[in-house]
Amino acid sequence: MAIEWSAAAREFHLRNDQVSYVIRVLENGSLGHVYFGATLAEGKSYGHLVPGEFYGFSNRLGQPVPLEFPTGGTGDYRIPALTVELPDGSGAVELRYKSHRILPGKAGLPGLPSTYVDLGLEAETLEITVADHVAQIEVRLLYTIYRDRPLVVREARIVNSGPSPVIVRGAMSASLDLPDAGWEFVSLSGEWARECHVERLALRPGRQSVSSTRGASGHQHNPFVALTRPSTTEEHGEAYGFSLVYSGNFLLEAEVDSFGTTRVRAGINPDGFSWLLGPGAEFVTPEVVLVFSAGGLGELSDAYHCLFRERLASGPWRDRVRPIVINNWEATYFNFDEPKLLAIASAAHDLGIELFVLDDGWFGRRNDDTTSLGDWQVNLSKLPGGLDSLARKVEDIGMRFGIWIEPEMVSRHSDLFAQHPEWAIGIPTRPRTEGRNQYVLDMSRPEVVNHLFGVVSQILGSAPIAYVKWDMNRNITEPYSPTLPAWRQGEFMHRYILGVYSLYERLTRAFPEVLFESCAGGGGRFDPGMLAFAPQAWTSDDTDAIERLRIQWGTSLPYPLSSMSAHVSAVPNHQVGRVTPLATRAAVAFFGVFGYELDPTTLSVEERADVADQVAFYKQWRDLLQRGRFLRLRSPFEGDRDETAWMTVARDGRSAVVGHYRILSRPNPGPQRLRLRGLDPTAAYRVSTWPSAGQVAAGPAIPVVLGGDELMSAGLVLESNRASAERGDFRARLYVLEAT
Ligand code: GLA
Repeated sequence: MAIEWSAAAREFHLRNDQVSYVIRVLENGSLGHVYFGATLAEGKSYGHLVPGEFYGFSNRLGQPVPLEFPTGGTGDYRIPALTVELPDGSGAVELRYKSHRILPGKAGLPGLPSTYVDLGLEAETLEITVADHVAQIEVRLLYTIYRDRPLVVREARIVNSGPSPVIVRGAMSASLDLPDAGWEFVSLSGEWARECHVERLALRPGRQSVSSTRGASGHQHNPFVALTRPSTTEEHGEAYGFSLVYSGNFLLEAEVDSFGTTRVRAGINPDGFSWLLGPGAEFVTPEVVLVFSAGGLGELSDAYHCLFRERLASGPWRDRVRPIVINNWEATYFNFDEPKLLAIASAAHDLGIELFVLDDGWFGRRNDDTTSLGDWQVNLSKLPGGLDSLARKVEDIGMRFGIWIEPEMVSRHSDLFAQHPEWAIGIPTRPRTEGRNQYVLDMSRPEVVNHLFGVVSQILGSAPIAYVKWDMNRNITEPYSPTLPAWRQGEFMHRYILGVYSLYERLTRAFPEVLFESCAGGGGRFDPGMLAFAPQAWTSDDTDAIERLRIQWGTSLPYPLSSMSAHVSAVPNHQVGRVTPLATRAAVAFFGVFGYELDPTTLSVEERADVADQVAFYKQWRDLLQRGRFLRLRSPFEGDRDETAWMTVARDGRSAVVGHYRILSRPNPGPQRLRLRGLDPTAAYRVSTWPSAGQVAAGPAIPVVLGGDELMSAGLVLESNRASAERGDFRARLYVLEAT
């Protein structure tokens, strides 16, 4: 890995064995983008790939010039990275190279979550300062390249070097120009209970984007997109990934211009955003992770998985296998007392489950979702001994204890709202819109963050609490803070998220042993910003196994299995009413951070035995399932959409677990094979199936030992469902491979 600067060619080359990123100072000082892709030879100039000078009017010159951090008003009409309003009301900006530094390692971002280095030697950072002397604006562009990862991490810092305030109207983290438009725009879109469905559409002239204006990244679009060639598959072909390390209003946008080139920009959503930059002040954008893969979406995902698991997640839980939890939400909703909870914990412990999570309803007068958010005192009529007594009894049973909180919220019917109505976000002259009978606290106010730090610290210190599920169940409406002057209200949404980050930062620092799981009505804020503090997230409120095939498949494009909580729940499923076999529910949830969301005291003797077997299976393969290489084999979004297959393979290729799921049963099926990936072609693998005989049916009639070459090139022969015991919808089969 190295960052080269050629003074003669005025070129930067960030390079490792997997990718190159080349930047050129154009003749007039503009910062041109030359190349991002597979590694190019060092010590050479690539400047001839792009026009030498940007004069503006890219259409008139017939040469759309690729730029690193484009601005508007001087002839580049494509989407800008920076938009400002200068003291005289004008907005034209022309950024010219001023200086650069090459630094070892990677610095953190003030107030924002970020990827990091453990050892300085594993990465290098290039900082280029560009400036507009008329506008008196400087921008510091930061690029980090790691030694062993096919990616570049970018961020930008906007500095007002003039004597008067400037308004930043849009500040992207990065902009990337690609020389052609033969790309498809892959996004993860959906809604509550159907997050992260994969959408793939060809780019056309004009703009294509995903974004949020909700105050959270949102269920609707994830802050991740990929550009792929039409021929790109999981295994082959080019793919670029853009993943924004941010949890608030974001924008990821591609524009195809009139010359058939593509510009992608990623950053805070400029819609509704503005930031007053006083003299000498700096605005820090969140960082964006740009991955290039020539080996398809599978390789792209693996780059994100490794980075997010190893250098975004932090604290002691980064490297620990995660406990199997049982959560009482779908088991009891608000209707519980201590004996009921202890009965659940005790039954769960008998099955091998490791941690009991007390969900919503333990505080204030909360017996439904109309009251008490903000009143984080235990409800003694439900739990007479308080949290400490309950937690200790759960520990006596042999399990660890966790709780649910929703710190950013306040109910209209709550003591907190009575005391501090001004802390609830709203515009004084308008009624507040309610969502789930609750309001959002103004996290831009330091006193709110301080209050919540005190309250949550007090709870975490009051009992042996090992885990926290931090929920956030509604988006922001009437965005406004009376603490900001009228001309700074455009800062509110970003300041809100900075407040959330500061609370997370303080709590995770004060309670490093607590495992935090983020949640926002399921996957409504499942993003890298949250993963920096909470290494796992509740993937979706939809616990149906079949729905989860799509949700987990899509979520896995950028996010590792170690970040995706996945629970087995009761049937008929509470979100869709579907009845799926217990084994199928487990076979889907195994590919994530496994747990249960049901009342184990209601299980039959056979079901209890099955759950014990599931828990034992997960424990045996947990390390592999949480930290192995995840490979998607058959997509629930393609073909007849009736099948899904994926696998996790150990980094050394010595073991793997393959999941194959058939959604609807078919009469008289033909023979089927599934080609596996990531194995050692020279190894021989012992193949066994799960569930074992008795739970569903006998395993397939395949030889027990098969070669890695055969499994990858010819494929694994899948059992057919001709046997009557195999018939039925929603069937799953796992294949476990162990090198002999
Ligand atoms: C959200 C979460 C659920 C549950 C409920 C409790 O919907 O996503 O898992 O915690 O809140 O109110």
